[in-house]
Amino acid sequence: MNTGRRTIVRLEGRTALVTGAAQGIGAHIAEGLAREGARVAVTDIQPTDPVVESIRANGGTAVGIHLDVTSEVGVADAFARVEELWGPVDILVNNAALGTPVALVRDLELDAWERTLKVNLTGTMLCTRAALRQMTGRPGSTVINIASNVAKRGLPHRSAYVASKWAVLGLTQTLALETALDGIRVNTVCPGPVETPHLDEVMRGHAEAEGTTVEGIAEQWRTSAPIGRFIDAREVVDVCLFLASDASSALTGEAINVSGGLVMS
Ligand SMILES: NC(=O)c1ccc[n+]([C@@H]2O[C@H](COP(=O)([O-])OP(=O)(O)OC[C@H]3O[C@@H](n4cnc5c(N)ncnc54)[C@H](O)[C@@H]3O)[C@@H](O)[C@H]2O)c1
Repeated sequence: MNTGRRTIVRLEGRTALVTGAAQGIGAHIAEGLAREGARVAVTDIQPTDPVVESIRANGGTAVGIHLDVTSEVGVADAFARVEELWGPVDILVNNAALGTPVALVRDLELDAWERTLKVNLTGTMLCTRAALRQMTGRPGSTVINIASNVAKRGLPHRSAYVASKWAVLGLTQTLALETALDGIRVNTVCPGPVETPHLDEVMRGHAEAEGTTVEGIAEQWRTSAPIGRFIDAREVVDVCLFLASDASSALTGEAINVSGGLVMS
């Protein structure tokens, strides 16, 4: 398979499941895992056909599965389907998330808060639980959670998102302790701003909430990172590939920043 990107790791014979992979970072992760040889279940609440077709067109192996990460039954069904097709899941990437609402806590609707926590945190737990039921007894399996740079700091107007991502770090550390002796690794990636539909939506929300323009917010966020630019989704993918592979065999419970220096601890 040749997509012009350099090879970093080989994942032949591995089965991966990526959530929220119809677009944005998740789609890039699914394509990256397939490029390195993994069989990839591309899952989302949106149609995943374009991503599946692109993987297959490049010689990779993929299946599209409709999966709402907040549905306990839906999660169980999706993992059962993958196991039936290819065997147990070796690599889970919990990527699905909501970036909204964009509002001060004093104006926050309870429904919006709960929806974000349900997708970003409960969805991560449900998928990880289903994965661990297949991974236990299979050392070398890995779970990669996509959090955010705001898992390590606060951000006005984004309390639900920020709280959910901090919680994902706590869940990651707990899971790492629970699974380390089984040879299973659980890590988190904390990206800075990456240009995706998610970023567009939240920048529009911030512009409205802060009485400025989307261009103004984009400039502020671009220049707040020492590298002075947004992160390319492929830079997040490279770290995920490293974490998915045996090259990171001693890493578990980590929260790796891919933020161009925006956060450093
Ligand atoms: N884009 C950024 O700047 C940025 C920065 C830091 C972290 N992140 C994180 O990276 C991940 C991907 O972000 P993105 O920018 O690609 O987002 P995106 O909004 O472009 O894509 C998210 C995907 O998740 C799916 N999704 C939403 N609810 C779902 C549900 N209940 N079940 C299954 N899928 C669901 C959406 O349909 C969408 O395809 C998220 O975890 C996000 O928090 C993004």
